[in-house]
Amino acid sequence: MPVPVPPSFLWGAATSPHQVEGNNTASDLWAIENLPGSPLPERSGDACDHYHRWREDLDILRDLGLNAYRFGIEWARVEPAAGHISRAALDHYRRMIDGCLERGVTPVVTLHHFTSPAWFRHGGGWTGADGIQRFAGYVRAVRPILDGVPWVVTINEPNMLAMVAARLHHDAPDLVAGALPPPDQRIAEALIAAHHAARAELGSLASGWTVANQTFHAAPGAESHAEEWAWSREDQFLDAAREDDFIGVQAYTRVVIGPDGPLPADPAARRTQNGWEFYPGALEAAVRHTAKRVPVPILVTENGIATADDRERREYTEQALAGLGRAVSDGVDVRGYLHWSLLDNYEWGSWAHTFGLVAVDRQTFHRTVKPSARWYGELARAGFLPG
Ligand code: NOJ
Repeated sequence: MPVPVPPSFLWGAATSPHQVEGNNTASDLWAIENLPGSPLPERSGDACDHYHRWREDLDILRDLGLNAYRFGIEWARVEPAAGHISRAALDHYRRMIDGCLERGVTPVVTLHHFTSPAWFRHGGGWTGADGIQRFAGYVRAVRPILDGVPWVVTINEPNMLAMVAARLHHDAPDLVAGALPPPDQRIAEALIAAHHAARAELGSLASGWTVANQTFHAAPGAESHAEEWAWSREDQFLDAAREDDFIGVQAYTRVVIGPDGPLPADPAARRTQNGWEFYPGALEAAVRHTAKRVPVPILVTENGIATADDRERREYTEQALAGLGRAVSDGVDVRGYLHWSLLDNYEWGSWAHTFGLVAVDRQTFHRTVKPSARWYGELARAGFLPG
């Protein structure tokens, strides 16, 4: 049975600055991508040139029938050198916020999505002496341009960041890490503190953060291991958001935990382009798990699939949304769904994993709307989650 959602439900798509803007030259990741012998196979380069083509992208999104866009503000552009705030960068992002509002598109704005300024990393990053104050200072600089933004995400996937940030310090990121290394607990705690400091700067604006929901399943006999894994890699970050205005859920696949950690991939399982199990049930499991743990409204801030087969994108998304519908009919307070991603973009070291509703020509930047995007837009216009 299709599940109706109220007109206020957000039907949208998401991006992040480093993955789509292009030439994010003052960022830590740009520096790593461009090291001689960089561990990242491909560079972000011009990315999707979204920094200049955002109007066209917003028009596409609106014309599809979507009513929300999640995008990020890039700290490395706003503060390319420590203490130097770029007025031009702030103006750019304010124009984007206005561009959303003028089109009747609700902006969902992320303040930190994996990348930081290179100077921040060199100064010790999140656990450096003044790491948290530095981040709070950036949020203070951005605050005046956020008027009218109803959803502000402080930090994207702090749990993933805590797993990879320690490696970033050694110039050896393992960002394509299905491996889920143990998080650095000092970084985890610094991120939680940074989140609270950011929320204090944001004052009355509704804010929260987004967590990578891993959907841990326990292999028989490994229940307590799975619980430990879930706590260090996910649940502590959910618990930290109990006092927030909302929590962002980001779910893609599942990980099965055995007594010695994640079990090797089942060779028979269907896989996506980036090697994750095709498991659309991840979204329903994640919203139910989150709702049990955190008593605040849920926004699905990411969900999607890396595939070259657009029919498979629709199949995955339809099943994921049906699961979301079941959770909503059971009373889980979900305020919207933002598909990852609006555009085929730079998937942290690779251009080969295409998550987009819209394809982007790597030479001309020409955008081509995929059939899955039209199907998704129709659903949004109808206002029903598929049953
Ligand atoms: C989560 C991250 O926030 C996003 O940057 C990434 O591209 C997607 N997952 C897919 O891996």
